[in-house]
Amino acid sequence: MTGPWVPTTFRVNGSQVALTGDPMRRLSDVLRDDLGLTGTKVGCDAGDCGACTVRLDGEPVCACLVPLGQMAGRDVATVEGLADGDRLSAVQSAFLCSGAAQCGICTPGMLMAADALLADTPHPTERQVQDALGGVLCRCTGYRKIIDAVRGAGAGVLDATPPPTAGAAVGARIARVDGVDQVTGTTAFGADEAPADALSLRAVRSPHAHARFAIGDLAAVHAAHPGLVRILVAADVPGQNRYGIYATGKDQPVLANGYVRYAGEAVAALVGDAGTVGRIADSELPIAWEPLPALLEMEAAAAPGAARLHAGSPGNILTTGRVVRGGVVAALAGSAVVATGTFETSHVEHAYIEPEAGVAWRSGDRIVAFATTQTPYMDRDELALVMGLAPEQVQVIPSACGGGFGGKLDLSLQPLIAIAAWLLDRPVRCVFTRPESMLATTKRHPARIVATLGADATGRLTALDFHGDFDTGAYASWGPTVANRVPVHASGPYVVPAVRATTRAIHTNGPIGGAFRGFGVPQAAIAQEALLDELAAQLGMDRLEIRLRNALRVGSVTATGQILAASAGLGACLEALRPAWARATEEAAAANAAGSARGDPVRRGVGIGAMWYGIGNTSLPNPSTIRLGLRRDGSYLLFSGAQEIGQGSNTVLVQIAADALDVPLTRIRMVTGDTDRTPDAGKTSASRQTFVSGNAVSLAAEALLRSMEVSGPDLAQLPEGEDDCVLSGTGTYDPHTTPLDADGQGIPYETYGFGAQIAEVDVDLELGTTVVRRIVAAHDVGRAINPMLVEGQIHGGIAQGLGMALMEEYRAGRTDNLHDYLIPTIGDVPEIECILIEDPEPAGPFGAKGVGEPALIPTAPAILGAIRDATGARMDHVPATPARVLAAIRST
Ligand code: FES
Repeated sequence: MTGPWVPTTFRVNGSQVALTGDPMRRLSDVLRDDLGLTGTKVGCDAGDCGACTVRLDGEPVCACLVPLGQMAGRDVATVEGLADGDRLSAVQSAFLCSGAAQCGICTPGMLMAADALLADTPHPTERQVQDALGGVLCRCTGYRKIIDAVRGAGAGVLDATPPPTAGAAVGARIARVDGVDQVTGTTAFGADEAPADALSLRAVRSPHAHARFAIGDLAAVHAAHPGLVRILVAADVPGQNRYGIYATGKDQPVLANGYVRYAGEAVAALVGDAGTVGRIADSELPIAWEPLPALLEMEAAAAPGAARLHAGSPGNILTTGRVVRGGVVAALAGSAVVATGTFETSHVEHAYIEPEAGVAWRSGDRIVAFATTQTPYMDRDELALVMGLAPEQVQVIPSACGGGFGGKLDLSLQPLIAIAAWLLDRPVRCVFTRPESMLATTKRHPARIVATLGADATGRLTALDFHGDFDTGAYASWGPTVANRVPVHASGPYVVPAVRATTRAIHTNGPIGGAFRGFGVPQAAIAQEALLDELAAQLGMDRLEIRLRNALRVGSVTATGQILAASAGLGACLEALRPAWARATEEAAAANAAGSARGDPVRRGVGIGAMWYGIGNTSLPNPSTIRLGLRRDGSYLLFSGAQEIGQGSNTVLVQIAADALDVPLTRIRMVTGDTDRTPDAGKTSASRQTFVSGNAVSLAAEALLRSMEVSGPDLAQLPEGEDDCVLSGTGTYDPHTTPLDADGQGIPYETYGFGAQIAEVDVDLELGTTVVRRIVAAHDVGRAINPMLVEGQIHGGIAQGLGMALMEEYRAGRTDNLHDYLIPTIGDVPEIECILIEDPEPAGPFGAKGVGEPALIPTAPAILGAIRDATGARMDHVPATPARVLAAIRST
């Protein structure tokens, strides 16, 4: 229902506005599109994520659920109204100096919910903060620093740390260099750039997981919709209608050409004015579908005689991985104890709060794309291929990335908007809806792992026999990466003399398996750590002690034959956890004794998980290049193409640059995010930016310092070059690795992150519900360049690991939204204690390694181990939903 369209007058941030428009328009759209207040973010348009939270007559509401027609005489406050000029409000300051924002997309909504709470309750308890902010989802932070910030703002105890002096930036807990923009709502995400003359694009997607189709005459659709400018189909792709991560894996069409392999695959794209493309139903297009039997399970897809999804993938096997060392069969036969099991994991959705969004425009014979991404240079090269252009004809300007976690390493809307803008010579923008984002983009690979682990009578591991099948879905994406990384890590962070670890990436007609924080290692760790617990039980050993006994250390030989030369801090992590382990196990025993006496069905359990993770690509080139420039006024420019996705790389790289140059970091300004201006720092994945790009920063600083020595101190005499710099230095770093041989032997990574976590849970034996009470996390990060950001990564990883362990299970067509697909809320993440172990990596910048992915890996094993401790039931299928927990208890 629309109309009547009458002027609606209301107040926004204290100013009167009068708007005439469709009374059913969402307030979030009115604020963003009509009033230019893009600080209010949109994550779902369904009231599920809370990113668009504003205060309406003082109360926090989701602006996406408020129609313009209900706004007459109302008073709305948005994030833009929080600061007083340049002076941040108390809660904004608290978010900034607590590290409460990572990607920043949820931050405006969080701030407005917090602002409303603090207005009524200046000194809230943790529980009150959780209740008040419970409607706003954050996928990055794990919420703990948000709680600290809100409570700190109320108490007035949080002040910005003074900037460190020259030489003291590394190790300082400084606020993010991009943090003020985040807390004021001025960070520009993919949907925040909307040229006035831009057309809108909406993809039409397959409702079938496997089908042939034919598109008929489109003239009638055009005739019925004058606002429709063009309908793109496969024939409109000017270059190669195939893209993909690997040179040998470019198998995904921009627009399918008569045949689709998964539900959600794009078959056409409508381009026109926003109202028109939003109004046209898919069913108006003359598409004749011929549904085909879909292979949705790996077992069926890999069965003899199964239909082949891709001509080049016999048996639907995309690729295999293998690491073999020592005689596994004999070693298992000679073991005092063995444990075996089959483990299954589910599709997991990235659920970043920012759906894919961007805009492209033509500039002469070049195309420019501004879009959310983790990998601007790969995007540039991929766009060049599908556009039929040279890479120099493509400019990618990444927007701020509102969460990625691996899901924005693949192209999404970029080729569609680029092709449309190129053909129409008009800016074209696209913003995925939440269901579209979830349906069309990649997921964590579901895994089915069969493994056997052996140990001698003293608890020393003897052998591992491991096979993992990973559902890579319809297209290759990052399937080869998962298949290759998992066998290297299958033995866990332990000395295992005999290893046979094999993997297969199997095509199905399911969602595309892509990159997701850990590249398959979290799935493998669930199996490996459960079997280690089993061995400990058989031997009557303490679970922490068996890990300590087998921990990889400096000088240890890994399953690939690599000798760890330095920085292997797992032993220190486990030692640091001893006090918490002893306390937790004692408390659990006491709680269970008391609970049993009361007849309480809740049992407490304690679990432990450990991990290792190779930093950067697996045995592949992985370079990063960074440039530093010096201006006449003595300021420095740090040209970085390392894409910030919330993890804090911009801040970390400035800290490294400051100390490498021995100058205050206030003299360094960052130039980021433009493939025309910044050198290629590679993709933001595999926890590599601190280690690889950090090293490139150090090398660039060395080069610049050498230039300064040669040129002398009188900068005024030097000619100004690009960006007004008078001198510059460039550094490139590529980790030292070697290819793996046929048995997976070699040096896959230059360095590894290590860590271990303890989880304490309560399980209701009657309901099957699990509540995580506390996590203690010890991580060896080499050197914490910024401990506050490192803690934030650990918190965020734990929250995602908790979700994977207990609640997250994506089902195409059934959970394509944030009310059916559950991710942890602020009430689900428990108290977290972080212990930072700094075992310096000599090859790292100031000794640093990486922590983004390591933080997630041990969480699910620790939680599942705690469930087993509480119930006696091993969880072989995650997530451990109440139904699965009850079933496991009953079958034990
Ligand atoms: Fe909350 Fe990224 S900081 S979603």
